Amino acid sequence: MTGTETVLGAPVERLEGREKVTGTARYAAEYDAPGRAQAWPVPAAVARGRVTGVDTAAALALPGVVAVLTHENAPRLADPEDPTLAVLQSPQVPHRGWFVGLVVAETLEAARAGADAVRVTYEEEGHDVTLTASHPEAYVPETANGGFPAVTEQGDPDGAFDSSATRLDVEYRIPPLHNHPMEPHTSTAQWVGDRLVVHSSSQGSSAVRTELARMFEMPEDRITVRAEHVGGGFGSKGTPRVEVVLAAMAARQTDRPVTVALPRRYLAAVVGHRAPTLHRLRLGADPDGRLTSLVHEVTTQTSRVKEFVEQAAVPARVMYAAPALRTLHRVVRLDVPTPSWMRAPGECPGMYALESAVDELAAELHVDPVELRIRNEPETEPDSGKPFSSRHLVECLREGARRFGWQDRDPRSRSAGPLLVGSGVAAATYPVMASPCVASARALPDGGFLVRVNATDIGTGARTVLAQIAADALGAPLDRVRIEVADSDIGFAPMAGGSSGTASWGWAVHEACVRLTDRLAGHSGPLPDEGITADADTSGTADAESPFARHAFGAHFAEVTVDTVSGEVRVTRLLGVFAAGRILNSRTARSQFIGGMTMGLGMALTEDSTMDPAFGDFAERDLASYHVPAHADVADVQAYWLDEDDDHLNPMGSKGIGEIGIVGSAAAIGNAVHHATGIRFRELPLTPHRVL
Ligand code: MOS
Repeated sequence: MTGTETVLGAPVERLEGREKVTGTARYAAEYDAPGRAQAWPVPAAVARGRVTGVDTAAALALPGVVAVLTHENAPRLADPEDPTLAVLQSPQVPHRGWFVGLVVAETLEAARAGADAVRVTYEEEGHDVTLTASHPEAYVPETANGGFPAVTEQGDPDGAFDSSATRLDVEYRIPPLHNHPMEPHTSTAQWVGDRLVVHSSSQGSSAVRTELARMFEMPEDRITVRAEHVGGGFGSKGTPRVEVVLAAMAARQTDRPVTVALPRRYLAAVVGHRAPTLHRLRLGADPDGRLTSLVHEVTTQTSRVKEFVEQAAVPARVMYAAPALRTLHRVVRLDVPTPSWMRAPGECPGMYALESAVDELAAELHVDPVELRIRNEPETEPDSGKPFSSRHLVECLREGARRFGWQDRDPRSRSAGPLLVGSGVAAATYPVMASPCVASARALPDGGFLVRVNATDIGTGARTVLAQIAADALGAPLDRVRIEVADSDIGFAPMAGGSSGTASWGWAVHEACVRLTDRLAGHSGPLPDEGITADADTSGTADAESPFARHAFGAHFAEVTVDTVSGEVRVTRLLGVFAAGRILNSRTARSQFIGGMTMGLGMALTEDSTMDPAFGDFAERDLASYHVPAHADVADVQAYWLDEDDDHLNPMGSKGIGEIGIVGSAAAIGNAVHHATGIRFRELPLTPHRVL
């Protein structure tokens, strides 16, 4: 695929695909260097308290053990921006699993044996890890995650609700969920003179560099962070994680390169989780099915280490026209690990609850759930009053209904032997964001181009789509463009997150390439040996306020069978239609959509995490107990999109696509289970023990 007319939007295969499938793509654990040591952390074995003693003698006596770092001997670091990174700096234990030591050894096996041999004594304090909606310490924070106000209110939601012809007052519960990327969090660090070089499995190397510079009190230009290949993150690698701090500390202490690859069983405690959310929805409607009042209240948890408030009531500010609207977040500080970002934080749990409640209202009103949503389309964004830059939710619902065969749906379920069959629908939304970024483009004398941007490709195909954006802006065939990414020395770039990576990096790449094209047009004769370069920095442009409300939208349709003997729910079909601006690579975009939808399927049916109240620990900490969907669970997932032409976004006309696939997917499945069984389950996941 090299034609310039077709490059943007074309199904270009991943540029690094061959490297990945042949095993030559190197991940953070695979940067070997002479003398490299391996390390294994020691997690705290109490739920709250302080370390009173660490006996490292037995560990140090083991063959191959090089050093044991504890709060008593580890390098003293400056306070991090993110307090979860202040590891081995004090004896305090804020939650079980917090690291209280690190064993460095010649081999991973020796490090692990060393960690087992470290003896830690504690002074325990009482702990509380149980989230309830009526928790006496629940409070309304100033803001929810993302800087959103914790509370918004328009009209008289309580009065309007009380006087509504139809009233729905329901509660939903979503358990904690875990990101579990394929590659656990890993960093290899090496000090070269006064320089620190790190290979880190991260969604953004610039942020890692900034935090390391702060903690190790050194200028950023003496630190290089690379993340050439990253085996997923889903938000858990969106901020620097504790393993990179441990690797840099251990490398300094031992004067050797050190790799810290976190064991998967330790991830739940130290890389964040999607906080559990308790939802109360009150929907009032008039006899025509028009919302008169919409109230969405969320209670969630954070840790003692820092405040993190899952912004799950925020999507209710975007979705439906209601003259009275209240959204509210409450949070409880518990002795739990610190929650963090997980794919579509806020929107994903929020839309599960909202879209389930809208389905309940449709059933109550005897209005088709597609039709009910269409009746409640807002003219402008309910929260801000701003016009939408583009909003094609109704078109997604109609197109999805057509493709799914919704018109043939019987209001009652069908049965086939012991199976009940049902179908459901839910809407999706995700905001459009972009951040400033720098990039450069160079024309080389051989006719090729070198484009550099510190993007991270976490498996999404980012480098591929950025090469497409460059080729398009340069008017050059794709095979003349070489792209370099994932190196903090290239310059500042935002992380791969918020479904904004492609928009942010692509904006800078586009601008650098347009400038280069101008420069080349003014140049005559052969290019100098070093070529001609143009730089771009989108500060002030990419982050400018918009007079428009900018969001992507979508609609999910699910068909399920529910086994009345075993209680097993299976998703026989999942179909999504999305309106997300211009799609820049149809192959990788489709993968993003179906990947998100599949993750929603896991949320609906299999992914469950329980906090053990006695031990203060997540019980399911590996993939044998925390069940993500397997191939056999994913029978038929189809993703489609509508072409959207929106001039108010970025030079490519794209909206983000990384997260919207998971938003609403679980609700569509839950709504289908209700259609099949006539029973409304309001707590996820829909495992057999709940359904039977
Ligand atoms: Mo995503 S949770 O914004 O990395």
